[in-house]
This record gives sequence, C-alpha cells and structure tokens, in this order.
Amino acid sequence: MVSASLRGRSLLTWLDFSAEEIRSLLALSRAVKEENKRGEIHQRFLGKSLALIFEKRSTRTRCAFETAFGEEGGHPVFLSTADIQLGAKESIEDTARVLGRMFNAIQFRGFQQATVEALARYAGVPVYNGLTGSFHPTQVLADIMTLEENFGSHQGKRLCFVGDGRNNVARSLMALCAKLGVHFTVITPQALNPDAELLQICAGLAAASGAAIRITADLEEVAGADALYTDVWVSMGEEAVREERMRLLGAYQVNQALMEKTGRRDTIFLHCLPAVKGEEVSPEVIDGPQSRAWDEAENRKHTIKAIMLATL
Ligand code: CP
Ligand code: NVA
Repeated sequence: MVSASLRGRSLLTWLDFSAEEIRSLLALSRAVKEENKRGEIHQRFLGKSLALIFEKRSTRTRCAFETAFGEEGGHPVFLSTADIQLGAKESIEDTARVLGRMFNAIQFRGFQQATVEALARYAGVPVYNGLTGSFHPTQVLADIMTLEENFGSHQGKRLCFVGDGRNNVARSLMALCAKLGVHFTVITPQALNPDAELLQICAGLAAASGAAIRITADLEEVAGADALYTDVWVSMGEEAVREERMRLLGAYQVNQALMEKTGRRDTIFLHCLPAVKGEEVSPEVIDGPQSRAWDEAENRKHTIKAIMLATL
C-alpha cells in the first residue's frame, strides 16, 4: 500500500513528495486509525529509537510522536535545547552526525528551517520537521485527513485559511493543497500575504494538480468553502509584533457570522491548535457543532505514525 520510495526519506516541507506518495501516506493514516479503534497492538518500532529535539514548546506534536512511537515498542527520547549542545557548543552538523549514529530517526521543532534541513543533510537517518518558522508539514497531513473524513475525499474540495497568511501553517497548507488538487484560498490583509517565492512554486504545482490557489483580503471569498481554517495571530517567536498583528487581523476572526458567509451549513471549522479563543476564533465556533479541531488533533497521532512507518 505504501510507496517504497518513502523508505529512508525525511519530511521537511512536502515540496519534494509526489501526490501519489502523499496519498499513500493518507491511506496508511486511515489504516492506522482503524487499527487503533479496533484496539490492535503492534510492535513495528520494536528495537528502534527516535530523538525528539524541541527548541519551542509543544503539546500535540510531542505527544503524537512519543505515543505513536512508544506504543509500537519504540523508544522516544525528548531532548530540549536547554539540555543538548545543538548549535550552542556544537555545530548542527556534528549533532546530526552523532544523533544519526544512535537513533533511527530525528524529529526537530524550532525556529529556523535551515536547522532542520542541516539535520537532514548530515544525520543519515530520516528527519521530520515538527514545525519551524517556515513550515509545519506533519500538521497539514492531519488537516487533509480530517477534510477527507468529512467529505469523503480531498480532491476538488475548497479550503479557506483566514488569518496570518505568511505563517508556517498557511504556507504548508498551500504547498500540500497545490500538490493534491485541493482548492486553497488564503484570506489575509495584504501585509501578511505569503511570500512570492512560495506562491510561484505552488502555482506551478497547482497547474499540474488542478488546484486553484488564491490570495485575497476579501472575507466574502469564504462563500462555498468546505472548510474554514485559522491559526493564532502571533506564532511562537513573534511575540514582539503582537500589537501590530492585532491591528492587522482584528477584522479576520472566524466567528459565527463568518461561518454563515459560506452559505453552507456543512462547512467545517479547522484549527491546528493551540487556539486563542476570542482572537482568531470565537469560542462559539471552535466549541460548536461545525468544529472538527479535536478530530484534527487526534489525527496528528495517526498521520505521524503513518509517516514514521512509511519512512523507517
Ligand atoms: N498543532 C501543533 O503543532 O500543536 P503543538 O504546538 O501543541 O505541538
Ligand atoms: N503558527 C503557530 C502554529 C502552532 C502549532 C506557531 O508557529 O506558533
């Protein structure tokens, strides 16, 4: 079922994966979730170890990696950068070389995309990007899985991201939707548009997949959307620009009035979490009947297990 081409691969952005490879990961995620619901126990990571490096905090990503790996017999090791020598007293390259001799795979969450890319270049084992300032690839596989669970498939569906259009989650959604043929609209003030370089890459991918990728400041463009998605207005590491973000994004809250602008009652609400209720989303939406944020959080674990099964 899983593409043999995935073995040994790192996951840094999705841009180097084919649509077929990504679809095989989605199929494996569904299979893994079904096994989990049946209460099946497997030991597919027995004798393996996973390094989990965190420069930033995490609830879902850390717990998804640790539980998915550990319950299959593997040994996850949490390494906060307050404890290890990553880039402080030892270069990223040397840390990568050493961890690659001791672990079967490495997860990295932190600030710079260049760090996770350097780890992948020197470790000699699969490296998974658990979020950088630029991309959050493991998140968006769970998002597409959740979209599929609600609408039967992802192809040709309409996903609207409302909020900080240049953040890691918006950029990753754009890349994955462009690959998979999901129509993707970013609704954001012009000052927060995704960067031109990524837009150009995604336009090329979209031409091949049939996805329509749109960037607009106009909230009316939620009309007809299958899913509205938002994320925090101030990402980790950006606390200094909080006031400016509040000013730019104040009108872009996903609330009941915006959900109604879709003109549909079956539009779902997605959020990668953690959420600041009352800022990017109103409590009535995230805790209401159209929200799938909690399924989406659970799906982080199933998709992350599938990614590790396919690549290890
Ligand atoms: N969505 C997500 O990555 O959550 P954490 O920051 O809790 O890992
Ligand atoms: N954009 C958010 C995502 C958190 C999962 C951040 O980087 O803080």
